[in-house]
Amino acid sequence: MTHHDRLLIIDFGSQVTQLIARRLRELNVYCEIHPFQNVTDGFLTEFAPKAVIFSGGPSSVFADGAPMPPESVFKLGIPILGICYGQQVMMHCLGGKVERGHGTAEFGRAYVTPTRTRLSLLDGWFDADKEQVWMSHGDHVSEIAPGFDVYGTSPNAPFAITADTGRNFFAVQFHPEVHHTPNGKKLYENFVRIAGFKGDWTMGAYRDDAIAKIREQVGDKKVICGLSGGVDSSVAAVLIHEAIGDQLTCVFVDHGLLRLNEASEVVTMFRDNYNIPLIHADESDLFLNELEGVSDPEQKRKTIGKLFIDVFQKYANEIEGAEFLAQGTLYPDVIESVSFSGGPSVTIKSHHNVGGLPEKMGLKLVEPLRELFKDEVRELGRELGLPESFIGRHPFPGPGLAIRCPGEITRDKLEILRKADAVYIDQIRKHGLYDEIWQAFVAILPVRTVGVMGDYRTYDYACALRAVTSVDGMTADYYPFTHEFLGETATRIINEVQGINRVTYDITSKPPGTIEWE
Ligand code: XMP
Repeated sequence: MTHHDRLLIIDFGSQVTQLIARRLRELNVYCEIHPFQNVTDGFLTEFAPKAVIFSGGPSSVFADGAPMPPESVFKLGIPILGICYGQQVMMHCLGGKVERGHGTAEFGRAYVTPTRTRLSLLDGWFDADKEQVWMSHGDHVSEIAPGFDVYGTSPNAPFAITADTGRNFFAVQFHPEVHHTPNGKKLYENFVRIAGFKGDWTMGAYRDDAIAKIREQVGDKKVICGLSGGVDSSVAAVLIHEAIGDQLTCVFVDHGLLRLNEASEVVTMFRDNYNIPLIHADESDLFLNELEGVSDPEQKRKTIGKLFIDVFQKYANEIEGAEFLAQGTLYPDVIESVSFSGGPSVTIKSHHNVGGLPEKMGLKLVEPLRELFKDEVRELGRELGLPESFIGRHPFPGPGLAIRCPGEITRDKLEILRKADAVYIDQIRKHGLYDEIWQAFVAILPVRTVGVMGDYRTYDYACALRAVTSVDGMTADYYPFTHEFLGETATRIINEVQGINRVTYDITSKPPGTIEWE
């Protein structure tokens, strides 16, 4: 197995820690985020990082039990970069001083100007006389630690860029990982160059490593994989199949909440292209009967989640000798579940997953995508030769059309919704917009409206079109279709789909809205 140099990001709870990892991955550097509590002396020895980054965080170094790195990290003799709270922690630990915010808090855009000429971390910076950066801090450093010098200041952060070049310790008050620090990536590029990373963490290498790991983990045992037809589970299935062949069986549960022709497309693609043993479990009646009369969004999710587990278990029991369950868990899911604040403090939506399965069934998990972000999964899919039509698919939620049918779900409404959605997606494809959009779908509204078609009065459902751009689904903007496109699409839906006589376009961003309607 190839060995890659590893960079450790110690997470102190910043909202944007994941973006640090994104920037580093873009530089083909392998990194992992670990919450500060887990980073003990023993962990550092085992992880053997080639460099460390301290993330930002919401705490104050003065708070009781303030998050701190282990002292030993400063003795490893490797480069360290501290960001925002990470800078304050570094100064605090190494003999500098941090002061409470009073009047000097700084949130938002700021401009940093240089104080000294050369610092390798700043190659490519200050070609103009100042750089725009993004600040988000209450406390600030008031005295730098012995050995450090100041290389950049902003009006409210006299120690915006600091470094101890002897030890290769760097500390900045702003966030170079966010887009509002336009030249921020350069700092990471310089940092990993200083640390001696080769930038050899490519998808080809990842694939080879992943295959070797799967073989080692699974041996000659059997694996089952829940296939949803989405990108993540499809890539996981193909990767595992490449590693262990027909020791893998996939189970595709059709809950009756899929899009038009979706079940047959998924099944055909897997049977024809990959020859992967696949059980097609048509359980639509079970799900739809159980959902009858349910209109609360959380209740829908819980009902679907529970049934999914029951059904999956039923089919899995038929596969003799299965000891492992494969899941398309992605890196953001992993990080969230161990984040320093214990995950998001408020549940906006309880996303459906099959986390309850292995414990109940005594299965061990195979999660070959645990280290990847969504766009990296797509890249891996390409590497594995999955058809582009599959890789580029918009994300589709586990509860499917159930959450695009606000209020009570009926078979009639689902039928109408499927047809309207197919026309809308066809329009988007025909206009060459599919790949520009993160996710697009129709929601059928629990409202009937009066219309007139020919000489007749109609009293049919209204629907809402939704299309958003997004990088990761966490925030989103509505897609700015032209009026011509919207008009043409509305006409097509009303003409071609019986049961809809009014079309609206949802122009809510996330936040304050969410992408799905429920
Ligand atoms: P929201 O609606 O929370 O959606 O802005 C963000 C992304 O998550 C998807 N989503 C779900 N995925 N189970 C899933 O597997 C769910 O219950 C669920 N709810 C939302 C949504 O489609 C979007 O991509």
